[in-house]
Amino acid sequence: MGLDVESIRKDFPILSTTSHGKPLVYLDSAATSQKPVQVINAVSEYYRNYNANIHRGIYEISVKATEEYERSKELAAKFINAGSYRSIVYNRNTTEAINTVAIAWGEANIGKGDHILITQMEHHSNIVPWQLLAKRRGAILDYAPLDKENRFIDMEGLKELLERGPKMVSFTHVSNVLGTINDAKEITALAHKAGARVLVDGAQAVPHMKVDVREIDCDFYAFSSHKMLGPAGTGVLYGKEELLEEMPPFLGGGEMIRSVGFDGATWNDIPWKFEAGTQNTESAIGLAAAMEYLGRIGMDEVRRHEEVLTRYALERLQDTSGVETYGPEGNDLKRKGGVIAFNVKGAHPHDVASIFDREGIAIRAGHHCAMPLVTKMLNEPAVARASFYIYTSEGEIDRMVQAVSRVKEVLHLNR
Ligand SMILES: Cc1ncc(COP(=O)(O)O)c(C=O)c1O
Repeated sequence: MGLDVESIRKDFPILSTTSHGKPLVYLDSAATSQKPVQVINAVSEYYRNYNANIHRGIYEISVKATEEYERSKELAAKFINAGSYRSIVYNRNTTEAINTVAIAWGEANIGKGDHILITQMEHHSNIVPWQLLAKRRGAILDYAPLDKENRFIDMEGLKELLERGPKMVSFTHVSNVLGTINDAKEITALAHKAGARVLVDGAQAVPHMKVDVREIDCDFYAFSSHKMLGPAGTGVLYGKEELLEEMPPFLGGGEMIRSVGFDGATWNDIPWKFEAGTQNTESAIGLAAAMEYLGRIGMDEVRRHEEVLTRYALERLQDTSGVETYGPEGNDLKRKGGVIAFNVKGAHPHDVASIFDREGIAIRAGHHCAMPLVTKMLNEPAVARASFYIYTSEGEIDRMVQAVSRVKEVLHLNR
């Protein structure tokens, strides 16, 4: 049947605004998603009716704020089938979630000469924390290669690197540049067989498809509220309970302790051991509304919509002369999320994005926080990227394709 995109769009106030006098076409959801009124209202209701610090007050509005904050984590546990609410840590974003593991788990488990394995398609937030850890501990960071066409992880290359016995394998579930959907379950099984712990960066997966962390069987999984209709300021770290239990804290301060004396401190239970200081309550409450919104649509429907849209957009772009696209295509579209990186021959991607902007179309251009992938693997200084979500319509894709003609016109690229 498909999503009723027109009715979904009515929930997103920003989608009826204009940009440079034209209806806004927002094609940058991989960077951050737009927010429906249900999320905006949930945050506003918190500020209007029960704004208070959580876990601290015994008065009514503080108790209500605490309940809503904790309910959000219960919903998150269900959203990714974590099993237990104790496995869900809230922090600022995917980046902080990965750093929590790289620092708290990494310092306790990585030593001199140990291997850590990531891939060539990672976002900086799944590269730099491991580079820092490797440097501090004298460990070796390996990168699983991509296939010849730079579309998928080269599984034979990955297996060879697994023979080095890495202690940690960390990879993205969905690439924010190529759109590639990695087989998280298969890679996790291979990594476990090699004796590694596994972290999956799910920043581009959880917003767009059904994710079941227990089926994947990864040890850690990270994602961000702001990419899935929720407010910025909340990241989610899933960790297997026994690992979170044995890990030392990441940040020290209020809330993460059981008791503090002049000579030391003891730690709170998980997940609070990893939630130091005042949490972003309003963002967590907005995220709860976002998960409920997505839950009503159904994540399989979300995925189906984006698959159809991506196929349509890719076909239309590839039919346009002078356009080069990156990532899976053709028969491999089942393994591509709603992200299309592309270039227009003869045009710098920043010029493409600027001309799109004058047409009211928001796309992103640059290295997309994946410099090694873009500059070394794709061999480009930058690429343009259009990314889709539940509110993206076919009509918007048509406008994007028209904007490519406009780029050629403005830059006199007569192809
Ligand atoms: C694949 C991937 N990982 C991690 C991140 C970092 O997310 P955040 O900035 O919310 O920490 C992003 C953000 O674009 C991403 O696309």
